[in-house]
Amino acid sequence: MYSFSLLSWPIALAGILLVLAIDRILAYYRGLALVSYLPGERYFFSPVSIPGAILPTSKWNPGNLWMWSGRGRVYKRKGGSEIESCLGWLGGMPLLYNNSPEVAKQVLGNKSVWDKPQIIIDSLAPFGPNVFATNQADWPRHRRIVAPGFGGGLYPAVWNETVNTYYDCLATEKWESEDSFIMPNVVAITSKFALYLIAKSGFGIDLSWNESIGEKINGMTMPECFEVTSSSVVLLSMLPRWMFFLPLKALRRLRDARKALDLILRGIIDKRRAEGVVSTEDQRSKNIFSLLLKANDGEKGSKAALSDQELVSNVFLLLLAGHETTSRALAGTLGLLACHPTEQQKAYEEVMSVLKKGNDPTFDDFERLPFIQGCFSEGLRLFPSSPAMIRAPLSDTVLSIPSTNGEPLAIPVKADQLIWIDWIGVGRNPRVYAAPDSFMPSRWLDPTTEPLLNFSYGPRVCIGKRFALTESVGILCLLLRDHQIEPILKIGQTLQEWRTEWETNVDSNIGFGPKPFPLKMTRRQLA
Ligand code: HEM
Repeated sequence: MYSFSLLSWPIALAGILLVLAIDRILAYYRGLALVSYLPGERYFFSPVSIPGAILPTSKWNPGNLWMWSGRGRVYKRKGGSEIESCLGWLGGMPLLYNNSPEVAKQVLGNKSVWDKPQIIIDSLAPFGPNVFATNQADWPRHRRIVAPGFGGGLYPAVWNETVNTYYDCLATEKWESEDSFIMPNVVAITSKFALYLIAKSGFGIDLSWNESIGEKINGMTMPECFEVTSSSVVLLSMLPRWMFFLPLKALRRLRDARKALDLILRGIIDKRRAEGVVSTEDQRSKNIFSLLLKANDGEKGSKAALSDQELVSNVFLLLLAGHETTSRALAGTLGLLACHPTEQQKAYEEVMSVLKKGNDPTFDDFERLPFIQGCFSEGLRLFPSSPAMIRAPLSDTVLSIPSTNGEPLAIPVKADQLIWIDWIGVGRNPRVYAAPDSFMPSRWLDPTTEPLLNFSYGPRVCIGKRFALTESVGILCLLLRDHQIEPILKIGQTLQEWRTEWETNVDSNIGFGPKPFPLKMTRRQLA
């Protein structure tokens, strides 16, 4: 009889590897059963795993651009439908993903069955729970306090700030007197614009384009702290605290930025408290934060009130959600307008028909600019700055999937099974949007067009949708009134070739969209 010690090491190692391989094969088949044996993408690791998420997108790894790089391939397989599955041979949680607005509505509209999985909640809470990073049980408390900040009085103020920030930007960048200039990094400009606007309209922090927000703490200004924390928000949320004390410069900088931002945000809360609750006539009362604080003070002493730490977390989240998404979608829209001059001309003509003698637009003009609204919706459909949402059912359920041959498909989904709502796929679903890859702002003038779902749907619909639309329509209107926007083409390059190349240069952190790119702006001559 053999004892273990008589086995040679190579044989023991081979045995262990065999056991691991069998275990992995069984886990893979269990995963396949969980996703109803649906066809789909296969990688070494699924997107919901550390290596799957952090290694770059390639044939073998999903990374954070797998849905973008697979957009011409997925949902087209034989036997495939508007729902498919993604599995990792070596690990990661199995996923269902879909490109059907009907499925998105079933998942997002049904609050009782579907919820945010803990892994998603944990990844966006570097300062603790907030209105985004909470599950069904705790979410209503946060939403109730945050919602009054987004009342109707906010939007005329957002519009006015948009106009002021536009002029501030042109003057500071020394573009106002130029007949033509190159905007070298459109993404940086839209990002700065959206951050400054949420800071001003959201938190009453008055800035000029050149000014830093507040004084320096830990050697960093607020925009710097914000830039550092928001670009690494998932790391900040997920890494254990002790790791930030390791002698690694990048992690220490992250820790310092987080600490400084915490101090700055607490300072804003204390300052506003010291000023007292302002009257509704006061300009300051029109910003999100004053109204949020007022709603919270109204709940003082009850369980419904948010703690100061929860207020800090919500302020951070509003700054983050309020600028990354809008700025990326705006950059996408400007790039698309640049390479579609006919659509840009239509947009310009609408602007000039609404603005008398080229005056500055007023908030009342928003409704009179449906084509400009369509340009932004089209930019968001083609570049969904919030590209996906993940949900899981609390108990076993069934999804009804539309199919091209009429009969919907019933797919059973087990409790805790993750589903990835793919906004890139929904936006480019040919059953839903004709000529889905084309930039056609006029499709949004047709009331039969499937409404844009990129701001989500149901009870947890984006609270900042009107904020984003107001600032985006305002800035597009001003830019188009004053400038003809063009891409910088290489010699012999066509507009279509420029668009194809530009669309391959995308990235995704908190927001998804084109990487930095330049545009040429030529001042229009008023007739
Ligand atoms: C183009 C711009 C924007 C897009 C595409 C967008 C998209 C979304 C989406 C898809 C969600 C749902 C996420 C989920 O439930 O997993 C969401 C939620 C949210 N958004 Fe936006 N958003 C935009 C702008 C804004 C702005 C400007 C603000 C704030 C000023 C904002 C604040 C929020 C908040 C607080 C939530 C969480 C709502 C809740 O769970 O109750 N968003 N957004």
